[in-house]
Amino acid sequence: MPNLGVNIDHVATVRQARRGSSPDVMTAAVHAEMGGADSITVHLREDRRHIQEADVRILRQSIATRLNLEMAATGEILAIALEVVPNQCTLVPERRQELTTEGGLDLTTHHDAVAAAIDRLQTAGIPVSLFIDPDEAAVAAAAHLGARAVELHTGEYAAHPGEAQLDRLRRALHAGLAAGLTVHAGHGLDYDNAGPLAQLPGFSEFNIGHAIICRALFVGLVEAVAEMKQLVRYNGHDPRGIRGNRPPRR
Ligand code: PXP
Repeated sequence: MPNLGVNIDHVATVRQARRGSSPDVMTAAVHAEMGGADSITVHLREDRRHIQEADVRILRQSIATRLNLEMAATGEILAIALEVVPNQCTLVPERRQELTTEGGLDLTTHHDAVAAAIDRLQTAGIPVSLFIDPDEAAVAAAAHLGARAVELHTGEYAAHPGEAQLDRLRRALHAGLAAGLTVHAGHGLDYDNAGPLAQLPGFSEFNIGHAIICRALFVGLVEAVAEMKQLVRYNGHDPRGIRGNRPPRR
C-alpha cells in the first residue's frame, strides 16, 4: 500500500509572510504525523522563499517519520544535505521565477550535475529520488544514472485528469518498476485526483502539499492529512466517509 508524504512548505510560506515564527513548521510536522503522514517533505529552495535551513535541521532531529528533502543539484544545497543527512533527497529542477516546480528534471541537459549529486548523496548513504516527467525515456535515464527512486510528475494529470494521463503514468510506473526503481508520484494532487491515481498498484509514495495545507485551513492539519491518507491508502474512498474509520492517532 502506498505511503503518504506530506509537503509542509506552505506552512513556512505563511510564516515567511511576516518573517516571524508562526505558524511553527515543526508543530505542523507533528500534526501531519498524527494524521498519518509516513514522511515529511520540505523543499529548501535557493531563494529560501519558504523553508529555511534551520527548519531542515530541526525537522531532521525531531520528526518521528522520514524526512524527504527536495532540492536542486547545486553545490550549496548539496553541502547542507550531506551535513543534515535526510532519509531521502529528491532532486528537482529549480527556477527562481517559478511559482512551483515546473516540469521534471531534464536528465540530458543536467546529466553531469545530477550524476555527481547522486554519487555524493548515495555514497553518503542518502537514497536519491529524481523528479521526472512520466515518460519511459526519462525513467530509463534515471535508472541509468543509478538513482534508487523516481518521483513521477503528476502536474499534467492534475491539469487534465483522465484515462490518457493515467495511462501515461501507468506506463512510466511499470517502466520504473521493471528497472528496479522505487516509484513515487506527486505535484498538483488533491482530494479529487489522488484517489484514481492511487488505484494503480505499484506506487510507493505520493507526495502532496498544497491541497492538504489548503484543506487544513478549514478542518485542521490532522484531519486534512487523515483524509488524504484514506484516499491514497484505501483507493479512493469518499473522504467524507472516513469518520470512525480514520487511522489511529499517534
Ligand atoms: N513533489 C515535488 C517534487 C514537488 O516539487 C512538489 C511541490 O513542492 C510536490 C511534490 C507537491 O506538490 P503540491 O504542493 O502541488 O502537492
